[in-house]
Amino acid sequence: MTIKKLALVTCVALSVLSPLSARAAEGGHLPKLSWSFEGFAGTYDRPSLQRGFKVYREVCAACHSMDKVYYRDLTALGYNEEQIKAVAGEYTFIDGPNDEGDMFERSGRPSDPFKAPYANREQAMYANNGAYPPDMSLLVKARHGGANYIYGILTGYGHAPEGHEVPEGKHWNAIMPGHIIAMAPPLQDGQITYDDNAPQTVDQYAKDVATFLTWASEPHMEERKRIGITAFLFLLVFTGVMYTVKKKLWAKLH
Ligand code: HEC
Repeated sequence: MTIKKLALVTCVALSVLSPLSARAAEGGHLPKLSWSFEGFAGTYDRPSLQRGFKVYREVCAACHSMDKVYYRDLTALGYNEEQIKAVAGEYTFIDGPNDEGDMFERSGRPSDPFKAPYANREQAMYANNGAYPPDMSLLVKARHGGANYIYGILTGYGHAPEGHEVPEGKHWNAIMPGHIIAMAPPLQDGQITYDDNAPQTVDQYAKDVATFLTWASEPHMEERKRIGITAFLFLLVFTGVMYTVKKKLWAKLH
């Protein structure tokens, strides 16, 4: 491909892509934080992941399931086998049937998915005044704005502007589409005790749990980026070698 053709293809690609990104920026007034996992070489902040897991476990897990995440996956957060066994062991699972055909209770194992708060969707809705707390395994991927959306919802509660009615049992939220949300503000300052020196504020809890949920929806992101960078470097070197070879070959012909 000649340089001219390459430039043309790049221009076409940019003109197709830029209206898309402009449209993506329009929806709602999402906050835009700078996250460690963004960008070409971004990685997850391990301490933040561990704190975010704590927030999920102590608060969100009362209503939201994460049925695609297994306790053993927590090795990625920096926990060892013993710690994971201890976490899983705190939950009780129904298993079976046993040899006599009966179901039985047992404590959780690393090979179990995160324990769900409700037995089924109906029970979840009944317990939440008819609203369904969505499963959070892939929520970051499923919502426009990803981590910024999660952070925005958690910090977006407030009073409805004049003239806006908030139905009984619902709450006003700046980020929720339609601004009415059935979830009461789940976080308060000081609610969760952190073992490190991170601030124990709604703002920090929201950042940490958004980081944790991003990891849950894309656990292989770091590996994917590493492979991407390696491939890019390889192609760069390969291009250099091919260019030199080409020059040498053509030099003979002239
Ligand atoms: C007491 C139950 C309860 C707790 C605790 C709770 N939620 Fe929710 N959550 C809900 C319900 C119910 C909805 C559905 C709201 C609606 O549809 O209006 C919801 C909705 C959400 C949404 C919006 C989902 C969407 O569809 O876009 C997010 C984000 C969310 N919760 C995150 C969290 C996080 C993070 C935590 C923990 C810090 C948490 N929730 C704790 C009940 C809860």
